[in-house]
Amino acid sequence: MAANKKILMLPGDGIGVEVMSEVRRLIDWMDKRRSVTFDVTQDLVGGAAYEAHGEAITDKTMDVAVNSDAVLFGAVGGPQWDSVGYDVRPEAGLLRLRKDMDLFANLRPAICFDALAEASSLKRQFVAGLDILIVRELTGGVYFGEPRGIENLPDGQRRGVNTQVYTTDEIRRVCRVAFDLAAKRGNRVCSVEKNNVMESGVLWREEASWIGENEYPSADLSHMLADNCAMQLVRTPKQFDVIVTDNLFGDMLSDVASMLTGSLGMLPSASLGPADDSGRRHAMYEPVHGSAPDIAGQGKANPLAMIQSYAMMLRYSFDMGEDADLVEQAVRNVLDSGKRTGDIMQDGMELLSCQQMGEAVTAELDELAA
Ligand code: IPM
Ligand code: MG
Repeated sequence: MAANKKILMLPGDGIGVEVMSEVRRLIDWMDKRRSVTFDVTQDLVGGAAYEAHGEAITDKTMDVAVNSDAVLFGAVGGPQWDSVGYDVRPEAGLLRLRKDMDLFANLRPAICFDALAEASSLKRQFVAGLDILIVRELTGGVYFGEPRGIENLPDGQRRGVNTQVYTTDEIRRVCRVAFDLAAKRGNRVCSVEKNNVMESGVLWREEASWIGENEYPSADLSHMLADNCAMQLVRTPKQFDVIVTDNLFGDMLSDVASMLTGSLGMLPSASLGPADDSGRRHAMYEPVHGSAPDIAGQGKANPLAMIQSYAMMLRYSFDMGEDADLVEQAVRNVLDSGKRTGDIMQDGMELLSCQQMGEAVTAELDELAA
């Protein structure tokens, strides 16, 4: 098979580095066992890039990202960069990747593996069998809206400003992604905003309705206020199929959803740009969790969110659904066999390090592919 699959690997900071090593292991496995060869470049992002270059991602790295078929991203940030300016702090690297590649649709599936139903903070009956998908708008809203900044007022006070702003097209395109994905699942979309206090929410609801009525008449579209959605997610999470929402609400609701699955360490994500004429899209794959400075460098991280992000890359960027299924099955089997990292540890289970978990997944792949 030709080595034409260009991947940029950006481990970033903290546990990003550790979990990415386990993806390396998977890539090597794929290379040896399935003759799938990726052309991998690795570079710096976040605090690591700031230390080396004084910015959270360089133009050169951005260039490589834009010319890759997919970007694998670990995590960024840490307390040592807390006082660094917003434009160069670690998170700025992530936001620039999203913005410059126009990765407007962020897919965050929250699936509760049966073996982990007890690890959730909710009772088993509420989460067992859970399979929801949050589609978060990723390049607009308050994350990027202008004006923004902190200004000094004449009376000596300071004023911090951010702007929540959405246009028709921004709302419509992310809703289309949600409806398209819903059609392959339960065909139910719940659009989430706060139209009771925000004009951008009023527009969001109107545009979501317009897309539903005019382009996806067979889908079942409902609407919910964001605060209620947060509550419903912990009350009866299985009522949802696909949730589509803005950047900030999506950030918060996906963290809520993560706990339903047992641990933030379990949630993968895919961020997709618009398709060009040949159907090719920019794409980036990253775990929902952050750099977890408190456990970084101790081998305690759970690599399964990163590994499942890699599986999403196989599926969405390279149309390798079978291989993605294989990786996901290996993860399920490893969990079924009682292997756990610290974040999902339960009585009577076997505690593994990050590296051991990565090895357990490839060992399981050996079995599955035998
Ligand atoms: C996420 C993270 C990021 C976000 C941070 C690290 C900028 O929380 O991907 O959910 O807020 O989008
Ligand atoms: Mg977040």
